Amino acid sequence: MKRSVEEHATRFSEKAGEYDGSKSAEYHACADRVVAHAAPAPDDVVADLGAGTGAISLALAGDAERVLARDISEGMMAEGRRKAEAAEITNVEFAHGKFRAPNLDGADGDGVDVVTSNFALHHLDDAGKRDAIRAMADTGARRIVLGDVMFFAGPDPDDPFYSPEVDDPATVGTLVDAFTDVGFAVVAVERVHDQVGVLVAHRTASGGEVPGAE
Ligand SMILES: C[S@@+](CC[C@H](N)C(=O)[O-])C[C@H]1O[C@@H](n2cnc3c(N)ncnc32)[C@H](O)[C@@H]1O
Repeated sequence: MKRSVEEHATRFSEKAGEYDGSKSAEYHACADRVVAHAAPAPDDVVADLGAGTGAISLALAGDAERVLARDISEGMMAEGRRKAEAAEITNVEFAHGKFRAPNLDGADGDGVDVVTSNFALHHLDDAGKRDAIRAMADTGARRIVLGDVMFFAGPDPDDPFYSPEVDDPATVGTLVDAFTDVGFAVVAVERVHDQVGVLVAHRTASGGEVPGAE
């Protein structure tokens, strides 16, 4: 990880006011695909990790029973709460939570049905992403939808879609392996750009158990 959790939190809080107006067409296309694939049922609880100002959380609020929006940046979440209040959305709960410790215990007695995350996991190194994906699986969700900076081809140093000094995107293959290892099958891969994509992962019936293994 190129920056600590605290450094990322400070960095995002400092730019929270301008964040929503600064996003690229690829970001918006990715967010739209994450929302479409999340497709919660009316009684589903969604956990949106690295929720920021709530792009995904607020878009899903009308479809889900509740959305648990978790982030490390108080400034980003303050923007999200302000937007929720302006839109009279009452079923989105913003609270502090890290990818590897998302703080979902006790927030909800029914468990999490769907996990979403958009444009956030690339702040972790690959070992951290694996831990984060394990934590997503540990929520009990049946579906995980990950939109992010990810490499479909090799990174293009002349046209990075990310900030190499603070970001650490993975290859699509690394992410697919991480989901497979925690008992999820990646059922859809959408390429938005050579460096941006959406993965949809469903919990397998075996939950990742290898038949016959001790
Ligand atoms: C580029 S923003 C994306 C926000 C939102 N998901 C969206 O689609 O607009 C990345 C977010 O990830 C959060 N973040 C970074 N590292 C995190 C971590 N370890 N755990 C939880 N959130 C983290 C940041 O605070 C920031 O709000």
